Amino acid sequence: MKTITIAIDGHSSTGKSTVARALAQHLGYVYIDSGAMYRTITLYALEHDMFENGLVKPNLLIEALPGIEVAFEKNELGQNVPHLNGRNCTIEIRQMLISELVSQVAAIPEVREKMVAMQRSFQTQGGVVMDGRDIGSVVFPNADLKLFMTATAEVRAQRRFIEIQESDPSVTYQQVYDNVVARDAMDSSRAVSPLIVADGAVVIDNSEMNQADQFQMILQLAQDRIYNRI
Ligand code: CDP
Repeated sequence: MKTITIAIDGHSSTGKSTVARALAQHLGYVYIDSGAMYRTITLYALEHDMFENGLVKPNLLIEALPGIEVAFEKNELGQNVPHLNGRNCTIEIRQMLISELVSQVAAIPEVREKMVAMQRSFQTQGGVVMDGRDIGSVVFPNADLKLFMTATAEVRAQRRFIEIQESDPSVTYQQVYDNVVARDAMDSSRAVSPLIVADGAVVIDNSEMNQADQFQMILQLAQDRIYNRI
């Protein structure tokens, strides 16, 4: 059976990671959360005082890049989890503060260059499911299946708000909503690799779709390609 590359892009908090992980597990593929990589670099920048008045100092970060090792290691459940210079940073990179700063870091061309090279290296290992913002447009323009996921900002903020309550109950719905909207605007308008609907991508608005139905629909799209039905 042939293995395929699946690229899932879309707006923030559309459930890309959830469906990508489930799909990879079902197909026995590698799952890579490319957003976690930008979040990990952002954590490094934060820990090394590379922000002033909420703005990243790009030159400092670019200079430090060769010494920043972003890696995925398997956890006890066999899932790939992000590590920063050898340290598991899964929990820390989900903080609201990282969500508020990450899009600036992801807009730096040198950061993207380093991350994209690493992302491409995962394709040599067989079937891959990767989610992010530029996977179908830049990282794997020849992906066998490209998806673009979206939903209304209100629905997305509500989903993310419920999720974040578990780790940080002090975060308000308004904060989450503002972050979702601000990140979409920055990610879509940046000069390098902006968030776009990649050529040939299937657009899925999941505002009114439940997770199980969405999974079945995407699995079908993947299987059509695996078995050469389209
Ligand atoms: O919070 P959510 O899961 O929607 O986002 P994420 O996938 O964790 O990505 C966090 C941020 O990283 C995005 O808002 C983008 O600024 C950036 N990113 C990117 O520029 N390119 C990617 N391939 C993935 C993420």
